Parts: sequence; structure tokens; C-alpha cells
Amino acid sequence: MNTADIQDLCGAHLINTYGVRKMAITRGKGAMVWDAEGRQYLDFFAGIAVTALGHCHPAVTEAITRQAETLVHVSNLYYTEPQARLAKLLAEHTFAPRWFFANCGATANEAALKLARRYWAQKGPARPGIVAALQSFHGRTFGALTVTGQPRFHEGFEPLLPGVSYVPYNDAGALEQAVTPDVGAVILEPIQGEGGVRLPDAGYLRRAREICQARDALLILDEVQTGMGRTGTLWAYEQEDVTPDIITTAKALGNGAPIGAVGCTEEVAAGFTVGSHATTFGGNPLSAAAALATLTEVVKPGFLEKAAAVGAYFVDRLETLARSRRQIKEIRARGLLIGLELDGPAASVVDAMRERGVLCGSAGPRVLRFAPPLIISEEDAGCAADALDSVLGEM
Ligand SMILES: Cc1ncc(COP(=O)(O)O)c(C=O)c1O
Repeated sequence: MNTADIQDLCGAHLINTYGVRKMAITRGKGAMVWDAEGRQYLDFFAGIAVTALGHCHPAVTEAITRQAETLVHVSNLYYTEPQARLAKLLAEHTFAPRWFFANCGATANEAALKLARRYWAQKGPARPGIVAALQSFHGRTFGALTVTGQPRFHEGFEPLLPGVSYVPYNDAGALEQAVTPDVGAVILEPIQGEGGVRLPDAGYLRRAREICQARDALLILDEVQTGMGRTGTLWAYEQEDVTPDIITTAKALGNGAPIGAVGCTEEVAAGFTVGSHATTFGGNPLSAAAALATLTEVVKPGFLEKAAAVGAYFVDRLETLARSRRQIKEIRARGLLIGLELDGPAASVVDAMRERGVLCGSAGPRVLRFAPPLIISEEDAGCAADALDSVLGEM
């Protein structure tokens, strides 16, 4: 099928949540994808920060293929080896000895919020209040949507989850005031991704940790976008000298296989007891095998250092560009999560980049976002920077 045929079918039969999409992608390899007409693109968005190892990475493909031939699904009524091994590997590479597997970022956050509430309900007295940040993004299910501090996503869905209050991101004073005795948890992104690639000031997360500690509230860090090496270390919290009580991850965890996960301390894990939370698919053998293969690659010696180095090279190229292209107002970056604040709409730059064979995205109306696979080369980074140079030069 060509793009127009696929577009017609989708237009006729999909509920229209994504609008008209400009292209149909049929194939991917490494940092490249091909559309239905066979045109090649450099993928610098990676399915919104998902395909960290690039498309169809051999280790992940092999793991999925082997698992698909062995056992695709059995539900969580039974143990499976891929899930057991994945939980162990995550435990070895985080502060969190205990894990629950979900299907995506939103359902991981949903589980985290439920876990926090139930922890306090069990321990007593109940502390149902949750503090979230303005401009945050945590997903589209009701709980995750409620803690997403952007009213535009709430429109038409009220009433939302009760007990949630919002504070400006990066404002420790406001957080201190908001964490009252009925607040059981604070949920934050280490960097606000969808909210515009907003990095907090040095020390903000550390201060948030101290406030939670002093007020006895749980700190949930949503590493759905920042985790799995995206910011140069496996988890962004490592760079902040902060240990949360609960962490969520998804996106790159399965390199494209749908999976999310919540990790926590032993003490917090006791908040969930048999029957208090469950999912049919979460952590099923196919997704768990993909995630196990992905994480195994990401933690190999040198992998993250190489990704951080190519990230530094790319940002350096973009900074050089920003000196001559006045449309770039600011560059906010850590590792390979990069936002460029522009002086006009980012959407038109995204379109023009695609015309030049480079896929990127936006994060709000004026922020151009790059979240390429972590395996890109300096040559790939150079191509993307050159494309942006000529796009901005023509605008
Ligand atoms: C920080 C963060 N949390 C949660 C989500 C939701 O993840 P999903 O779309 O897999 O539900 C996203 C998605 O962009 C995200 O960036």
C-alpha cells in the first residue's frame, strides 16, 4: 500500500485522535526509517524517545523472535523466566529491589500513584494527597492525566482524580508549601520532556527529596522519557544525587515492544498486597524478553559513555548553529534529550526537516525536540545539524 491508501483507510476507520499524518512508515533499521514510497529518513525522534538501540536492533529482534517461537503470552497468573530476569536486571541497575510491570508509561504511573496511596492507607493514617508539577506530562489515563499539570489535556475530561495539587516546576519553595500532612506523594519528571525539555536548576531535585523526607511523603520520579540512558546515564536521577522512593519507566525499556515498569523500595512495595493491582499483559514474556535484551545492551560497558559523547557532539553542532541562526532562542539538552526554543512555531520546522529527510518532533508550540536513538554516529548528528541549518536558512 502507498501512503495515500493507508491514509484513506485510517481516515475512514480510526477514531481521529492523531489527525491527518503526513507519512506512513513501513520499515526501519538502526537510525533510519523508510516510508511507503521507499524514501529514506534519518529518525531523530525514535518513536518519541523509544527506539534507543535503533530500529530492529539484532539483539532485540533475536530475543523477540526466539520468544515468539517459544511463548508469547500466559498472563500474570504464572511465573515466566523473561519477567523474572528483567526484574532482577532492573533491580541490579537501580535503587529499587521490587518491580511491577505495566504496559506503557501511563499505566506505570497509574500503578505508582495507586501504590503510593495504598502504602499510606496500609500504614495509616491515609495520606491521599498527591503533588504534581505544572507543565508536567505523565500520560493519558485518568490518574496519570490528573497529575499532568497542563489544563489543555484536561479539557472535557473533568472531574479528574481528587486530591491532586500542582506547583510550578523548579520552585522548591512552592513544593515545600504544598507538601502538607495529607500529602502522601510528590510526582516529578527529572527533566520535563513533553513540557518543553525543561531542565530544573541544579539542586532542585535534591531539595525535593529533602522536602519529601522531612514531611514523610514519597517521591515518585517519572523516568519514562529520561530513563534508559536518554540523558547520558541509565537514569537521570543518578546525575542529581537523588534516590526516589518510586521510579517509573517505559518508552525505551522495550526498544519499541510495549512495556512499562514501576520500581520501589522494599518498604513501599509492601503497600501492594495480593490482588491490589494487576494487568493482563504487563510484563508478558514477549515484551519482557524485548526489554531484557534492550537493558542488557544499554548497560554494556561503554554504551552510555558513547551515547553521551555523541550527544555532546550534536549539542555542540547545534550551539554553533544557534550563533548564526537567530530563530534558535535557547538550547536545552542533557545527553540525547534536546530541546530548541524557537522564535516561531516548531511544527513548520518539523515539516521542513521531514522534507529534507530528517524526522524530529516538538515539545509544545515553540520547542523543537530531538530524541534520536542512542546509537547514532557523529555523521548522523552532522546530517541532522546540516538539515536544520538549511531549513532555518530558508525560513
Ligand atoms: C515523562 C512521561 N511520562 C509518561 C508518559 C506516557 O507514556 P505512554 O505514552 O507510554 O503512556 C510520557 C509520554 O510521553 C512521558 O514523557
